[in-house]
Parts: sequence; structure tokens; C-alpha cells
Amino acid sequence: MNGFSAYFGRQRPAATDPQLAPPAAPFVPPSPPSPLGPLGVVATPPPAQVPVAEPEVADLEAGDRLGPTGRPLPHLPIPPPLDKHGPAKVIALCNQKGGVGKTTTTISLGAALAELGRRVLLVDFDPQGSLSVGLGLNPHEIGLSVYNLLLERDVVLEDVICKTNIAGMDLAPSNIDLSAAEVQLVQEVAREQALSRVLAPAIADYDVVLIDCQPSLGLLTINALTAADGVIVPLECEYFALRGVALLKDTIEKVGERLNPRLEILGLLGTMFDGRTLHSREVLKTLVDGWGDDVFHTVIRRTVKFSDSTVAGEPITTYAPASPGAQAYRQLALEVLARCHAA
Ligand SMILES: Nc1ncnc2c1ncn2[C@@H]1O[C@H](COP(=O)(O)OP(=O)(O)OP(=O)(O)O)[C@@H](O)[C@H]1O
Ligand SMILES: [Mg+2]
Repeated sequence: MNGFSAYFGRQRPAATDPQLAPPAAPFVPPSPPSPLGPLGVVATPPPAQVPVAEPEVADLEAGDRLGPTGRPLPHLPIPPPLDKHGPAKVIALCNQKGGVGKTTTTISLGAALAELGRRVLLVDFDPQGSLSVGLGLNPHEIGLSVYNLLLERDVVLEDVICKTNIAGMDLAPSNIDLSAAEVQLVQEVAREQALSRVLAPAIADYDVVLIDCQPSLGLLTINALTAADGVIVPLECEYFALRGVALLKDTIEKVGERLNPRLEILGLLGTMFDGRTLHSREVLKTLVDGWGDDVFHTVIRRTVKFSDSTVAGEPITTYAPASPGAQAYRQLALEVLARCHAA
């Protein structure tokens, strides 16, 4: 049985639609008010807008202390090393809103999973090619890309895959060519299954395949959802980010019903969180009120280190290995593996 189904079989709290207006009552911090920073590290609760130092070290085994989402942090065991690889869990990073951290999460989560000894394939499924650029590729120098893989029958996955500087993490790159695929695929037989078909050989070789989607709910994204076992929805901790989640959920459910019964929402990930602002904390609370345990315990803080690591063309886990951002993605990797393998 698919681990996602088991995970999501548990009770979900009565939902308040996060697309609705903010809670009528003024924001009340999680009860009891948490003195913990996003990574479970004790910090003095700051008044809104007053800068505080970020915690230096993440505590990955936080026991029953409260996390930034106001819930007790789960115990996240370090998974044992693998003696063989596959079959891969395919996870789409999806949100039709732009600039919410899909690409950053794909790179950083992939690198954190590779650190845990998982074989990871990153699939750049956005014609912007940000994932490829973020890993140091020049978009004009990519030879065969995911576009060729989708539309040319003599091109196979191993022709397209490149190694990254991270051991155990490979990339199927893309560039602007992919924008033509959306139009060309319309005429294809089984157009929604094109990505699923070409990724099939990766399932035996990798442990996790992460698909970085473009910010739209068009045919490319439907292809990613059709190929995936689970979806991670990165959401900027900002009010407008909550609008549109219901539409995304609706799309995921339709793809689940019509094209891919394996598909589950693996989790919603709060990104660009700024615990110093009431607004960020309020948005996170609204998210947890509406989606309960579907929201990852891990929350990614806003820090300029992510932009810096993009410029350097490497994941934050190697660019700033001890930074809170790197630690947060390591914690997310543990949480993702736990959710994938939940009995
Ligand atoms: N936690 C963070 N703190 C600060 N900046 C961040 C964070 N995560 C991502 N960023 C920056 O925000 C910008 C958008 O991030 P990213 O490209 O990952 O979003 P995206 O959802 O993939 O965007 P698009 O929809 O355009 O593909 C980038 O410049 C990135 O470096
Ligand atoms: Mg992106």
C-alpha cells in the first residue's frame, strides 16, 4: 500500500477553508504561547517587528516541545542507510502562485535527502529553468532537456540526466524550450501521462524523485500531478498566499479522481516565515487551523542565504551548511521520509 494513503488516513481536524478571510477574532498565539523558535529552539518571544537573533542550531529530535506551528514537534528518527535503492516516491512541488519557494525547496530538500543517503532525481518541469540555473547550469548550454524527453521518442531519460555537485543527486534539466511542450502535448495521445511515461525508468534507480512545477495549473502541472505519488505545497507565510490553496486542492482532487488515484497531498510547507511579525504568525495559524496535520511541522524562515545560495549555484545545505535554513530543510527531509513511510 502507498505510504501516503496510510499517513493521510488519519483524522483531519474540522477544516476552516484557508481561502476564507482571516479569522474574525484577533490573532491569538498558539496555546500555550510558544517560547520556541521555528526549529524548536528556545527563544525569547519577540514583540512584533523587533529583530531577534535566529537560532544557530536545529534540534531534530525535539520530543514534545512546541514547534512554530503551535503543535508539539514529532520525534523524527534519522532513517537507517539503504543497502539498495528504489522504488522511488515521486513528489511534485506545486503551487500555481509564483515565488513561494517551490524551486528552493526542490533543491534544498533534494540535497538534504541526498545527505541521508537517498538517491534523488530532481526534475526541472518549469520552462523558467530556475532549478537548473540554481544548480549552476547555463540554460543555453543544456543539450537534451526534459522537452526532448517528452516529445522525441528516441530520447530516453538517461540521455537527459546530468550529475550535480551533490553526491547522489541528479538533475533532469529544462530551459525555455519546455514552454513549447505545453502546446505540442495537446495533440498527443494520453497527453496528461507524458511525464509519467518518460519518468518510469527512474523509479527503480532512485529513492525520491522531486518535480519542480511551474507556477500555473496548466497541462505541464497536470502531467506532474499525474506522475506523482504525493504533492508538497510550499506556501509563503503571507496572506495572499492562502488564496488559491482551495483551487489547488480542487485540482489535485480532480487529478486524483480522473488520472492518478495514488496522488495525495503530502504536506503544506510554510516558507519565508518571519517569526518577528504578527502577520507571518497569523498566516501560519490560519494555515494550521484549516489544514491541521497536513501542514508540515517544519517551517522555513525568511533569510537572504537562500538568494545567496542561488547565485552561488548550490543548495543551502552545502553553501551554508550550519545555517538555520539548511537545518530546516534537513528537518523537512526527515519529516518527508516519515510521512512517506508512515504505516
Ligand atoms: N525561505 C526563504 N527566505 C528568503 N528568500 C527565499 C526563501 N525561499 C526562497 N527564497 C527566494 O525567493 C525567490 C523565489 O523562490 P523560488 O524561486 O524558490 O520560488 P518558486 O515558487 O519556485 O518561484 P516560481 O513560481 O517563479 O517558480 C528566490 O529569489 C529565492 O531565492
Ligand atoms: Mg520555481
